[in-house]
Amino acid sequence: MNKILITGGAGFLGSHLTERLLKEDNDVLMVDNYFTGSKANLEHLLPNPRLELMRHDVTFPLYVETNQIYNLACPASPVHYQYDPVQTTKTSVHGAINMLGLAKRTRARILQASTSEVYGDPEVHPQPEDYWGKVNPIGIRSCYDEGKRCAETLFFDYYRQHKLDIKVVRIFNTYGPRMHPNDGRVVSNFIVQALQGKDITIYGDGQQTRSFCYVDDLIDAMVR
Ligand SMILES: NC(=O)c1ccc[n+]([C@@H]2O[C@H](COP(=O)([O-])OP(=O)(O)OC[C@H]3O[C@@H](n4cnc5c(N)ncnc54)[C@H](O)[C@@H]3O)[C@@H](O)[C@H]2O)c1
Repeated sequence: MNKILITGGAGFLGSHLTERLLKEDNDVLMVDNYFTGSKANLEHLLPNPRLELMRHDVTFPLYVETNQIYNLACPASPVHYQYDPVQTTKTSVHGAINMLGLAKRTRARILQASTSEVYGDPEVHPQPEDYWGKVNPIGIRSCYDEGKRCAETLFFDYYRQHKLDIKVVRIFNTYGPRMHPNDGRVVSNFIVQALQGKDITIYGDGQQTRSFCYVDDLIDAMVR
């Protein structure tokens, strides 16, 4: 039987992942500091005895037994990750170090929730995986972009140096139930403005492009 650790499991994506893994009869240990996540996202799953919740900040080491780790802990939208940028970098970098250390000790398979932001402000559209990106190291988004890039570096070095079984997924804008209504991102803005009967805000000249993903499709890809 799988004993699965999910960090950031009380957030938008983490709560869907927790739901999916419990449905498949796994034991799930959900770890979160509830910075942007909430127990309300998991309320419907609480009666399940296979689910355990732990309040914990991933910037500190964690000693548990597990054979699979999904590392999702990190605020995802600019309003949230710019609120405390130093903590954002620590969450990505120290969080990755702590979770990789745990995976090394337990020989657990480990997945990192990375992001399309590793491409920064890309010159190539759409971005192929072999494109290395164009990232500002000192801007107000750097805490997120560079934190996630460093986490990817750590994952691949643990793979090369310690032969860990790693997976890194670069997630593009994902939407669906339980997304934050006020995170300032395009899908939530459009939906909230439409529900309130307000005009829908289009930034710039409206020619921007984004890749969107429905949450069930993303979770399916992560589990596979
Ligand atoms: N939603 C998207 O479109 C998207 C796109 C790209 C990448 N991602 C990545 O996916 C992951 C989940 O994103 P989300 O949209 O569910 O965001 P979210 O903000 O809803 O969830 C993040 C969770 O991590 C928790 N967290 C934050 N810092 C923590 C810490 N130091 N210790 C423990 N828990 C902590 C939060 O409380 C929250 O529950 C993030 O790593 C994010 O970078 C998401």
